[in-house]
Amino acid sequence: MSRRAPDAAPADDGRGGSEATGGEAPLLEVTDLVTHFRTPRGVVRAVDGVSLSLRRGETLGVVGESGSGKTVLSRSIMGLLPKHNVIRRGSVRFDGREIGDADSEEMRGLWGTQIAMVFQDPMTSLNPVMKIGRQITEPLLHHLDITKKYARDLALSLLSSVGIPEPERRLGQYPHEMSGGMRQRVMIAIAIACGPKLLLADEPTTALDVTVQAQILDLLQKEQQERYMAMILVTHDLGVVAGRADAIAVMYAGRVVEVAPTRTLFAAMRMPYTEALMRSIPRVAEPSHTRLKAIHGRPPELIDPPPGCRFAPRCEYAQDRCWKEEPALTPGDEPGHYYRCWFPVGTPEGEAARERNRAARSAAPASAPEAPAAPAAGAVAGA
Ligand SMILES: Nc1ncnc2c1ncn2[C@@H]1O[C@H](COP(=O)(O)OP(=O)(O)OP(=O)(O)O)[C@@H](O)[C@H]1O
Ligand code: SF4
Ligand SMILES: [Mg+2]
Repeated sequence: MSRRAPDAAPADDGRGGSEATGGEAPLLEVTDLVTHFRTPRGVVRAVDGVSLSLRRGETLGVVGESGSGKTVLSRSIMGLLPKHNVIRRGSVRFDGREIGDADSEEMRGLWGTQIAMVFQDPMTSLNPVMKIGRQITEPLLHHLDITKKYARDLALSLLSSVGIPEPERRLGQYPHEMSGGMRQRVMIAIAIACGPKLLLADEPTTALDVTVQAQILDLLQKEQQERYMAMILVTHDLGVVAGRADAIAVMYAGRVVEVAPTRTLFAAMRMPYTEALMRSIPRVAEPSHTRLKAIHGRPPELIDPPPGCRFAPRCEYAQDRCWKEEPALTPGDEPGHYYRCWFPVGTPEGEAARERNRAARSAAPASAPEAPAAPAAGAVAGA
């Protein structure tokens, strides 16, 4: 491990799929990335000091509730942010080159051929008045030195590769003539057409029904593995990335609050927020009408977030210290595991903190909230 800033996971920490990729240099290294928006109400701290790294052939799952900053993070990496009222700091290194400060012309040279993105809703990314065939061949003709005939053949083979039946006929169709799942397959075909090294998939299945969701996720995984791409798979559902990502970064209120190789995260998570997300995954073994345990309360305002740990108002483990001091990313026992918590899950101090809060709650009147909305009675100061 060569470096470690208090707010950053080291880039060479061997997280996730590094077992498969050995000592290869990271393809993507994000260090202390900040993306804030100036608004009439104040500065929205959407991404607030995020560090990540990813090697070729690896998949990183980025998970968090709505509003945690996942899309702003993806767009910051892609250089797809609004031009005005944005405050942007930190470094994005892609394939050994700094692109954090690249202008739109420089980024256009990378889009498609080096970095591509699949968005949540294909209808907003596909051109509704252009036939599918042209939407696939245009970027091919723009980026690759090939004939129209060859571009058409490539488009046909791409459509077959993403599981679209009768590709010949589909080339002549408009997006509205296809189902949501088929449109998302087309988007994936367009994204991988020019052989990008990094694919960002932002909630690629949220708009689809459950069976189609699994098919699209399997397709993304197949393409990622066959083409040895790096992939960032963004989702609010930890279950979606469970079997698909080498490593998972959990985001909360603009920060990465836990990052670990997937197996480590599931076996030994330390953040109470990750534990709460885990409890909200439906389990096959449970009866079909079992109620999922939703995380009570709401994420904090990103304008002037409160001091201390941003999860404190919703945390079953919160103690006095949590309301005053924000924890830095701390290494766990396994390589590549980092978390931000004073009273980690599965540790004696964490268990003691939760027990104190439970005892305080059961001693309180029946109307008391389920988790402390302020420092719990009997809470200790400090760890
Ligand atoms: N252009 C903008 N101007 C001001 N605030 C913005 C802008 N874009 C995003 N935000 C805010 O940044 C925060 C993070 O938004 P983001 O879209 O990244 O969340 P998300 O994690 O992707 O959520 P979801 O799961 O709902 O897609 C939100 O509070 C959002 O309102
Ligand atoms: S125990 Fe404290 S530091 Fe840890 S997540 Fe809960 S509030 Fe944050
Ligand atoms: Mg989003």
